[in-house]
Amino acid sequence: MNLLVVGGGGREHAIIKKLKENPQAETIYALPGNGGISADAVCVPEIGAKDVEQIVRFAKSHAIDFAVVAPDDPLALGCVDRLHEAGIPCFGPEAKAARIEASKVFSKNLMKKYGIPTARYEVFDDPAKALAYLKTASFPIVVKADGLALGKGVLIPQNLQEAEAAVKSIMEDKAFGDSGNEIVIEEFLTGPEVSVLAFTDGTAIAPMVSSMDHKRAGDGDTGLNTGGMGTVAPNPCYTPEAAAECMEKIFLPTLAAMRAEGCPFKGCLYFGLMMTPDGPKVIEYNCRFGDPETQVVLPLLKTDLLTVMQAVENETLG
Ligand code: AMP
Ligand code: GLY
Repeated sequence: MNLLVVGGGGREHAIIKKLKENPQAETIYALPGNGGISADAVCVPEIGAKDVEQIVRFAKSHAIDFAVVAPDDPLALGCVDRLHEAGIPCFGPEAKAARIEASKVFSKNLMKKYGIPTARYEVFDDPAKALAYLKTASFPIVVKADGLALGKGVLIPQNLQEAEAAVKSIMEDKAFGDSGNEIVIEEFLTGPEVSVLAFTDGTAIAPMVSSMDHKRAGDGDTGLNTGGMGTVAPNPCYTPEAAAECMEKIFLPTLAAMRAEGCPFKGCLYFGLMMTPDGPKVIEYNCRFGDPETQVVLPLLKTDLLTVMQAVENETLG
């Protein structure tokens, strides 16, 4: 089989190393790939992860049998939809399901509508209304850009002055571009964080081993959030009891909610959880493998990755 992986980071390298374990894998192409990946796959640096039309053309002209779209941007841009239209089986959600990550307003409203535990929140598209709301708020508080922002679109102001600056930077100065046209302002939660990456075909779900992501830029968990700078797996805070509670109250209800909204999720669904004193709550969803979580989680996977990915695409994961 000829395989194609869209992306060019450590996450994609971890995926490729695992795909290679299947003897059916012949040539694996990485678009664009990177220097490290070139040891394990054929890199195509001319085609970037967001060049959806070029990715589809490449897949057709290179007789690709199965594609994996790993990063958030191409998923949100509909890369999987376009590959499916071209008749190429692939792993990853279509654009309407990728909204679970690409729009925090969508995901927060989904959780509210279906009773999935998450922080209380308000949505604003008008900076004046957001600033007026902050005057009544207690601190710290959490300000999130609606759209994709390389994992950096969440600010945690400690007081009113910092919160006003956060709203102005996201909504008026457009620090994250159009991703800041709307914002979510939400309650600050406390507790250990757990990342759970789960395979799902829309109905069945198979969570992988849990992990812990280290996000803050400074020593001692201080400074701004980054996309993630280190991980461990399994996560010592994720007990079997917590896992059972998350399955019942969060994982299965999320899949059912996405089906009910007409956008069943197929691919790797990433649950960013916080183990609060009131039980586990969703901090965020990602529509893809986490980076760098994948680099520690996938090496622990015992089942063949390509087989699992094909079962997700064929809806036979159960
Ligand atoms: P997100 O991109 O939504 O995962 O947010 C990035 C990071 O900000 C999370 O991993 C948390 O450390 C922190 N964070 C986000 N939302 C909250 C919240 N409601 N309360 C406390 N911390 C949060
Ligand atoms: N490590 C967090 C993420 O992939 O968004």
